[in-house]
Amino acid sequence: EMPEEERAFQERIDAGIKIEPKDWMPEAYRRTLIRQISQHAHSEIVGQLPEGNWVTRAPTLQRKSILLAKIQDEAGHGLYLYSAAETLGVSRDDLLDALHAGKAKYSSIFNYPTLSWADMGAIGWLVDGAAIINQIPLCRCSYGPYSRAMIRVCKEESFHARQGYDILLALCRGSAEQKQMAQDALNRWWWPALMMFGPPDADSVNSAQSARWRIKLFSNDELRQRMVDQTVPQAEHLGLTVPDPDLRWNEERGHYDFGAIDWTEFHEVLKGNGPCNRERLRTRVQAYEDGRWFRDALVAHADKQEQQARA
Ligand code: 3HC
Repeated sequence: EMPEEERAFQERIDAGIKIEPKDWMPEAYRRTLIRQISQHAHSEIVGQLPEGNWVTRAPTLQRKSILLAKIQDEAGHGLYLYSAAETLGVSRDDLLDALHAGKAKYSSIFNYPTLSWADMGAIGWLVDGAAIINQIPLCRCSYGPYSRAMIRVCKEESFHARQGYDILLALCRGSAEQKQMAQDALNRWWWPALMMFGPPDADSVNSAQSARWRIKLFSNDELRQRMVDQTVPQAEHLGLTVPDPDLRWNEERGHYDFGAIDWTEFHEVLKGNGPCNRERLRTRVQAYEDGRWFRDALVAHADKQEQQARA
């Protein structure tokens, strides 16, 4: 028999009423939101690194300024999300400690290297494309601060995806070598982008409860299918081949059937054995240490301001 306050809580969730920081909530609801929102924030912050690799090597000043704007947006998305997580009673420093200690996850996709300029296109088109498909439902999730953060994030993400597609369009209309660069990027990013949506529903330990609490409005496999259905026609428009021999339109289903995903690769990356895991974490820890003096100075300045205001 569910305790009275939990039953009232679930009724609010079922009625689509937003839960706000000061409302009563089950401890497990708070914990799973801290888990998901903090890992989402970590993804945004670590997600800047693969793209940072190409800022100094962008082919034109315009491409460079667009890439810089996108990376800056991602830093902002991270800040919105850390702030949303803080409303659940955790400190940003604790969340960052968990990331730096390898205890907290961030999206698997950011553990892959960016080998050519075409990767900047593939990341915008596929990674931000997948992030949009995942984040649009989160705008309607049950926790107020998270859903409001997502509304702001989604407005900026569509620009990220479009500029990525535009990079690939330019390459596919260029020389044979440029088109091959785009095809090579698609070959390397296609399957890891599908893994972003999480394990198959049958192996998803959090999905059932997250669905009951209207944190997860669509299952991992539903959103993955949406990604494939949306992206294959875009690849065809580019004149690129999706690296999946089993991909084919299924008229009865009204969806694309596609090949098996290599979940061992996914679990290896989650265990820290992806191509760039160690480098990404080392870079983040170094940046945090290098910025310590600046954070301390900000706090010292704020303390002095406060003392003067009190004096
Ligand atoms: N990378 C790393 N870990 C992943 C993962 C991935 N692609 N997919 C799943 N996992 C982890 C889960 O976090 C969970 O581990 P945990 O319990 O220790 O947190 C475990 O694998 C089992 O997966 P579940 O399906 O049970 O977990 P969830 O119900 O949390 O679903 C999720 C996973 C769909 C990623 C969900 O957490 C979610 O929607 N998160 C918010 C969106 C997000 O994090 N997006 C990151 C995309 S990148 C991005 O947004 C930046 C963009 O601007 C480029």
